Amino acid sequence: MSKINSPTSLAEKLVRWQLMHGRHELPWQNTHDAYRIWLSEIMLQQTQVVTVVDYYARFLARFPSVTDLANAHLDEVLALWAGLGYYSRARNLHACAQTVVADFGGEFPRTPELLQTLKGIGASTAAAIAVFAYGYPAPILDGNVKRILSRVYGIDDVPSAQTDKILWQKAHETLIKPEDALKLGLPFETALRAYTQGVMDLGAGLCRKNQPDCAVCPWQDDCVAVKTHRVHEIPAAKVRTAIKTLTFDWYIYRYQNQVWVEQQPERGIWAQLWAFPQNERIQNPRSIEQLAVIKHRLTHRTLEISPHLITLDAPPKISQQGQWLDCSDTDHLSLALPKPATELLRILHNEHQTGLFSSKN
Ligand code: ADE
Repeated sequence: MSKINSPTSLAEKLVRWQLMHGRHELPWQNTHDAYRIWLSEIMLQQTQVVTVVDYYARFLARFPSVTDLANAHLDEVLALWAGLGYYSRARNLHACAQTVVADFGGEFPRTPELLQTLKGIGASTAAAIAVFAYGYPAPILDGNVKRILSRVYGIDDVPSAQTDKILWQKAHETLIKPEDALKLGLPFETALRAYTQGVMDLGAGLCRKNQPDCAVCPWQDDCVAVKTHRVHEIPAAKVRTAIKTLTFDWYIYRYQNQVWVEQQPERGIWAQLWAFPQNERIQNPRSIEQLAVIKHRLTHRTLEISPHLITLDAPPKISQQGQWLDCSDTDHLSLALPKPATELLRILHNEHQTGLFSSKN
């Protein structure tokens, strides 16, 4: 031990805690494969571990390497992503894989600076990849870590670019140092990975937004929010922007157990996913039925969709960008559909099977 009398650092406490109480068997742990780590980090942006686990396994089974992903058709990538939401992540994922193959010989770059030049990789994701894949020391700062550091250091400013700057500084200060690893008797890279996983585990497990578990937190004695009884006031709430409601129609052209879907434009909600036309394409169909309005919440919008079910006697080709989709394909394995469209298909398919619609004229 080099500094026997130095106080125990936050990093040391966190690593000890992580090794005893943290997560060690997540599917993307116990590997240093940058492709697998990158894929997990992108999937875990805005999405919880329980949701990601199955998608992650399916994705790796279909695309075992970055080259397999780069060579895939974007439609297939989107189809495997369908249901995870935030589809720009899937488009960026595909573009990033292509850049890694074309510009980096199929190997992810090793520094956060270079990793950040790739699509979909921000500062915190770049740091996580650099740590887990290459043992390169860099602090992460995602939403959970911001909450932890705000509480530990008593930072109660409203979220802003300036607040982020302060938090990044704290993230650098708190990051494990070689002398901490020495005191722990661990190789630096091992301690660094445990530290980084530790802040993630703390954010997901103990330092929750609501009802945090301060009594068992390794940082409780150091936490300004605990000491000043402000755990529930920190971090300060964001200034909320009003959620807008967007209303539109869906025209569901149906022939037997198939429906007509069209690819959405490159920009906007559900960019490049497959959905029902939003205006009428065919006059004088066999029957039109108004279905119940669907309400769907996105991050910054509420959608109110009025679906019209239009039954056809024959399957015309309606447009160049469309195709017929079998309603029984409810596992959305062939095409990426927005969640409410998948749910509608499931309902139509079940009703078709029970004969509810088939007797109609
Ligand atoms: N969230 C973001 N990255 C994560 C990881 N590597 N493990 C668990 N949760 C995470």
